[in-house]
Amino acid sequence: MAIRYLLAIFVLASVSESYYVGVGRYDITGPAAGINMMGYANPSQISNGIHLRQWSRAFIFAESSSSERVVFVNIDVCMTTQIMKLEVVKRLKALYGTTYTEDNVCISGIHTHSGPGGYWQYVLYEVTSLGFVKQSLDVVVDGIVESIKLAHHNMKQATLLTSVGSLTNASINRSPYAYEQNPDKGNYDANVDHTMFVLKMIDSSKNPLGMISWFAVHCTSMNNTNGLISADNKGYASLLTEMSYNKGQLPGQGEFVAAHSQSNEGDVSPNTKGPICIDTGKPCDYKTSTCNGRNEKCIASGPGKDMVDSTRIIAENQYYFGKTLFENASNPVSGPVDFKHSYVDMTKVMVKLENGTEVKTCPPAMGYSFAAGTVDGPGAFNFEQGDNGTGHTFWNIVRNRLHKPGKDQIECHHPKPILLDIGDMTVPYQWAAAIVPVQILRIGQLFILGVPGEFSTMAGRRLRDNVKKTLQQNGVTGDIEVVIAGLANTYADYITTPEEYSVQRYEGASTIYGPYTLVAYIQEFNKLAVAIAKGQSVDKGPEPPNDLSKQWSLVPRVLYDSVPIGKKFGEVEKDVKPSYARGNSTVVVSFYAGHPRNGLMTGKTFLTVEYKSTNSDWKVVHTDASWETRFRWKHTSEITGESLATVEWDIPSSALTGTYRIQHFGNHKNVLEKITPYTGVSSQFQVM
Ligand SMILES: *[C@@H]1O[C@H](CO)[C@@H](O)[C@H](O)[C@H]1NC(C)=O
Ligand SMILES: *[C@@H]1O[C@H](CO)[C@@H](O)[C@H](O)[C@H]1NC(C)=O
Ligand SMILES: *[C@@H]1O[C@H](CO)[C@@H](O)[C@H](O)[C@H]1NC(C)=O
Ligand SMILES: *[C@@H]1O[C@H](CO)[C@@H](O)[C@H](O)[C@H]1NC(C)=O
Ligand SMILES: *[C@@H]1O[C@H](CO)[C@@H](O)[C@H](O)[C@H]1NC(C)=O
Ligand SMILES: *[C@@H]1O[C@H](CO)[C@@H](O)[C@H](O)[C@H]1NC(C)=O
Repeated sequence: MAIRYLLAIFVLASVSESYYVGVGRYDITGPAAGINMMGYANPSQISNGIHLRQWSRAFIFAESSSSERVVFVNIDVCMTTQIMKLEVVKRLKALYGTTYTEDNVCISGIHTHSGPGGYWQYVLYEVTSLGFVKQSLDVVVDGIVESIKLAHHNMKQATLLTSVGSLTNASINRSPYAYEQNPDKGNYDANVDHTMFVLKMIDSSKNPLGMISWFAVHCTSMNNTNGLISADNKGYASLLTEMSYNKGQLPGQGEFVAAHSQSNEGDVSPNTKGPICIDTGKPCDYKTSTCNGRNEKCIASGPGKDMVDSTRIIAENQYYFGKTLFENASNPVSGPVDFKHSYVDMTKVMVKLENGTEVKTCPPAMGYSFAAGTVDGPGAFNFEQGDNGTGHTFWNIVRNRLHKPGKDQIECHHPKPILLDIGDMTVPYQWAAAIVPVQILRIGQLFILGVPGEFSTMAGRRLRDNVKKTLQQNGVTGDIEVVIAGLANTYADYITTPEEYSVQRYEGASTIYGPYTLVAYIQEFNKLAVAIAKGQSVDKGPEPPNDLSKQWSLVPRVLYDSVPIGKKFGEVEKDVKPSYARGNSTVVVSFYAGHPRNGLMTGKTFLTVEYKSTNSDWKVVHTDASWETRFRWKHTSEITGESLATVEWDIPSSALTGTYRIQHFGNHKNVLEKITPYTGVSSQFQVM
């Protein structure tokens, strides 16, 4: 008995501390003004301030300090793009040789639709952003690299634990009609995955080191009218988790790093009140999500009173549940760290179906329903009946080059009616990805599938089940856990099941490689699973292009800033009131400002809320990364270059009473393009 007890302790002791783990976080907030937001493809959704900053969160895992590593990076960005991944890996190779490569680094986007876009090399996704935006790409690439550097430098002995639970109040299916086509739906009790999977990292003194959760839900709580940069429900859930362990720290600071990561969210909406016709209050047409035949009025919302409140609720639901799973996690991770990666030319993958029929994927194309958008954001691309293209400069230039699909392409995509035949469009450069990465990271019994797009609920289940079965059949034993890391490494739109594809809702219309897209991915992931199980190498596959040098942009440059005669940059335009009641009031102050694109304030802030302590020192209590603050910016005259920055602070009921002030930090540009920093400060005010 005693010996068995000792043995058990010995086994536990050797299980704990069996990994070497590093965590890091860095600011990747994009240009806070004048750049189209990525996600809804709504040309009028232009950044005009900050609600929450965007962060890159990196986690490195190894068996020992000298063994091979895997890196999982979660970014508060709509998706990882091919050019981001290529540039990050190039920089990592320059810093660390072959320690970090495209093969062992997985970068997964949370899918916020409230971050500045343009970080692309494929035309389709640059249409609404008026082309490539270098500032958007650079800040993300720099920040991902910085977060990995931080993680690299603080690697230490750690124990990994997992837990799984079911969260039922943070998501609904936004295409239930498509889901219902699946013959295997009877195997599941819901039309979305309620599963949240948590990986817990603790150091050798049992202190929390890091956390990753995977849960499938779109980050579309903020809708397509929002211009403030926001990391949406998942970003805020990550921030809440970090702040609950990094006690007393400002958002984005502290050693504990938590990432609420994305999964198979293709058909999953956070707008849990569901869609209604916003003009009549009646239900939308079930099959087409239209109201009187049009899509614009069929909109999903909730659960809150407005989009900010909904973001908070969906974030808190993920945060509280994730935290419970984190605290409860008791299933130890053990086994090797490993990885497999290959590039696949998705335009012509051959797959043998179970009944022996050979099928093939197709060069990418979008169906008509793609232009209709979804209940989370109708009318993507602003296609309207009879739209003549006025005001869409980029479209006017490129639509002359739109490609007419040939017979083979039409047959290949059947029953999808082709709107955009992007596969053969290469002017001025490629329109969509032909070559995509597939990747598996292994950490003991946990297998993370880096998928280059948005898998629907059922597509994700079939992929996970297949990979698990393949691993088991090839000799992997034990309690295998397979999770999908969505929107990873590059973006190739949606992946639906063939049955969902057959009814061509938005997600089916956006399944770009045709009806057999999913079976092709399953085949390619199975190859990686066999290789990882048997310790074999995989075919590297064809290299994706790096078209960075060919990129072009129509985004207007910041020419110069100015202030009205007699005013200075940073001078208060409209001051605070002398006093406010906490819990129910908002402080508002505006300043004569420079354009936020003159300096992104990476790792800094455009604002501070400061509290005067008893020894008269000013202590920063909030920044522009805080939930309680909003930084807004607007041009008052584009011709003279005059603009205003407005800071808003919702005073929480937990705020200390006393004296406060608000500062604004910015940069202005003169006609000779010289950029100069400035500061503005409000009058002092009382919080009672
Ligand atoms: C959501 O569900 C979680 C877990 O079941 C529960 O703890 C939480 O109270 C729920 N939140 C709301 C707002 O109902
Ligand atoms: C966006 O949300 C706001 C509430 O915050 C609402 O007034 C507006 O109608 C919504 N717009 C769309 C297009 O969903
Ligand atoms: C956490 O553990 C407690 C106690 O074992 C249990 O009652 C609870 O259901 C667990 N919560 C989750 C979300 O797994
Ligand atoms: C094999 O299955 C596919 C997909 O279900 C179907 O389209 C095809 O007709 C089947 N072929 C045969 C020979 O049964
Ligand atoms: C295009 O449509 C807009 C608005 O519907 C209209 O003002 C404009 O005259 C039209 N232009 C052409 C060339 O038809
Ligand atoms: C909050 O302020 C509004 C208007 O200023 C007022 O009507 C309301 O009663 C206040 N609520 C609380 C809880 O103080």
